[in-house]
Amino acid sequence: MKNIDLDSHLIESLVAIEAARDLETLNTLDSELLGKKSVITLAKKNLSDLDADERRSKGKQINEIRDQIKDLIASKRTALVEEHQSVQLENERLDLTELDSGFRLGHHHVITQTWERLEDLFVGMGYTVSEGPEIEDEWHNFGALNFPLSHPARDMYDTLYVDYGEPQSTLLRTHTSPVQIRVMENQEPPIYSIMPGRVFRSDTADATHMPVFHQIEALVVDRGITFADLAGTLESFTSAYFGEEFVTRLRPSYFPFTEPSAEFDIRRPDGTWLELAGCGMVHPNVLRAGGLDPEEWSGFAFGFGLDRLALMRHGIDDLRELFRNDYRFLSQF
Ligand code: PHE
Repeated sequence: MKNIDLDSHLIESLVAIEAARDLETLNTLDSELLGKKSVITLAKKNLSDLDADERRSKGKQINEIRDQIKDLIASKRTALVEEHQSVQLENERLDLTELDSGFRLGHHHVITQTWERLEDLFVGMGYTVSEGPEIEDEWHNFGALNFPLSHPARDMYDTLYVDYGEPQSTLLRTHTSPVQIRVMENQEPPIYSIMPGRVFRSDTADATHMPVFHQIEALVVDRGITFADLAGTLESFTSAYFGEEFVTRLRPSYFPFTEPSAEFDIRRPDGTWLELAGCGMVHPNVLRAGGLDPEEWSGFAFGFGLDRLALMRHGIDDLRELFRNDYRFLSQF
C-alpha cells in the first residue's frame, strides 16, 4: 500500500469526473474518490507507517490531491446542474410560433380610421368633438328634437327600447342628434361641434344595413347663421374629404328637428349620386329645448352615416364585411 501513485490517481480521477454525464454518477464518484474507502483516505491511514519528514511531505501531497479532486467534483457539479436546467427550460418552452407565422403589427379598424379622419378634418375647421350616452332617454332622442308624442315620424326610426323605467322611456339612441341637445344644455353658444358615435336600430343586417352603426353629427349655433353657411360648410367638407372632383347637391326633405330640412348628396366621378347626410336649420323648438332663445341664436345641423363613407372610400360593397372581423379582409385597409 505504500506505493500508491497519487499523481496517476489524480489523473484517473480527473478522467472519471469528466466522464460523468449526470449528478447521480458524480455523487457516486464523490464518495468513491473522497469517502471512507477512497484511495485518499487509505493513503492517509498509511501515513502512520512513515517517519516524521516523509509523513509531512506525503501528507501535504495527499491534501493537495484531495483538494484538487474536490474542486474538480465541485465544478463538474456546477456544470451538470446548469446543463440540467437549460434542458429543462428548453423542454418547458412554449412554442408560440405554431399559433402564428410571425409578428404582425395591428392597425385601427376601417371605421375607426374614418372616424378619426373626420374628427381631424372638422377639428381643423375649428370644431370641437362632443359625446353623449348610447343609452338615451326618450326626451333627448325624440321629445327635445321636436318629435311630438305618438307622431308617425318616430316610426322612421326602428327603435330598440331598454327595459328600464316607464315603458318606452329608455332606449338605445337611434341617431346622434340627441347629443345636439346635450351640447346645448352644457355649453353656451357659439357652438361649433361634431358628435361622432354608435347608434342602434332594429334593422336586419344586409349589405347596406346593420343594427349597430355609426353616425357623425354636426351642430353649429351662433348669431346670424343661415342656410348658406350650411351649404358652404358641406361643400368645403366634401372637397376636403373626397376631393375637388366630387359635386354636391341639396334636396328638400323632412326632419322634425330641422326647418327647412334637406338631404345632402354627392356626385361621384363616375356620375352616380350618393345620399350622404340629412341636414337643415335647427328648428326653433329644438333651440328652446336646449335652453336657447331662437330670437337670439340660429344654427344648422347635419348628420351622416360613417360606415357608408368608409365603404365608399375603399370600394367595399357589403357593410357586413366590416364586422366579420376576418383579418385577411380588414388588413387591407
Ligand atoms: N338624425 C338624422 C338621421 O339619423 C340625420 C340628421 C341630423 C338630419 C341632423 C338633420 C340634421 O337620419
